[in-house]
Amino acid sequence: MRVLVTGGAGFLGSHLCDALLAQSQSVLCAANLLTGRMENIAHLRREPRFEFREQDVCHPFDFGKLDYVFHFASPASPVDYLERAIETLQVGSVGTMNCLEVARKHNAKFFLASTSECYGDPLEHPQRETYWGHVNPIGPRSVYDESKRFAEAATMAYHRYHKVDTHIARIFNTYGPRLQINDGRVISNFMRQALGGEELTVYGDGSQTRSFCYVSDEVAGIVSLAGSEEHLPTNIGNPGEFTITECAQAVLEVTGSSSKIRFEPLPQDDPKQRRPDISKARQLLGWEPKIDLRTGLQMSLEYFRTAVHTTA
Ligand SMILES: NC(=O)c1ccc[n+]([C@@H]2O[C@H](COP(=O)([O-])OP(=O)(O)OC[C@H]3O[C@@H](n4cnc5c(N)ncnc54)[C@H](O)[C@@H]3O)[C@@H](O)[C@H]2O)c1
Repeated sequence: MRVLVTGGAGFLGSHLCDALLAQSQSVLCAANLLTGRMENIAHLRREPRFEFREQDVCHPFDFGKLDYVFHFASPASPVDYLERAIETLQVGSVGTMNCLEVARKHNAKFFLASTSECYGDPLEHPQRETYWGHVNPIGPRSVYDESKRFAEAATMAYHRYHKVDTHIARIFNTYGPRLQINDGRVISNFMRQALGGEELTVYGDGSQTRSFCYVSDEVAGIVSLAGSEEHLPTNIGNPGEFTITECAQAVLEVTGSSSKIRFEPLPQDDPKQRRPDISKARQLLGWEPKIDLRTGLQMSLEYFRTAVHTTA
């Protein structure tokens, strides 16, 4: 199998490359390094079954025969997609269409890394795949949410009209080693602040909830879904639900930091609650996450410690 991972130099994409190589596949990683880093794939430099191409997937491309296209390219953190709004819209729309076209041309399977952001600030809790979401289509976050909703629509259209064998994961918050330290996501923010001796910033009153999936669990779910016959979106995340304040406390505990918590105003359209209903993935794939939040934070500690010292 020769597989393409777009965005493979990013956090999740690089872990996916590792998992696919461990399954004896040949991996072609294409990324434009907008938010990804070569360090994430530096350990694969001497791997003969691994190849890196610098490529913006918004420009048409063809790397020859492929068996699977995993489309993970997209800014993913609020800091990145708010700063790179147009690029985010482009990669979700034009970029996704280009990747689908490559899959169609080579009769390859296609996998879309979609997101829980498709549910917006949800009125249904926990979120099941049947929920259509509550997204502000013109708010600041819409550049990400709507580009992923478009990407899902495009993927289903290629499945229906061109019979491409497609799969869609709605990925919920994932964390672990290689998460960018300055990307504004909850865990990286708290880890950076706790390890750097700064106050932990909690937006709003900290009662909004999130669920956090350790990266090895997330990738195991993705790989399992990729090998399934399911074409409709499937939630892949950890259903353990924490308030943001509880998460801050867990980070303080694991890091042994004595930093205080500081409260700041809530950004516009920030979801009040997020928790995946993973019944479908459990039944369909027999998959469920194994690593709880405190264990995952422990497993990520060394990476974050090094990252904080290197960027200081
Ligand atoms: N990490 C999460 O918690 C999470 C949650 C939901 C969905 N996702 C999705 O998973 C995917 C990967 O997320 P991540 O956390 O690894 O993000 P990341 O920012 O670490 O990696 C994204 C990668 O895509 C590349 N990229 C962006 N635009 C590109 C373009 N036009 N052409 C080629 N490459 C491009 C970046 O340079 C980077 O290598 C994204 O599609 C994201 O929407 C991630």
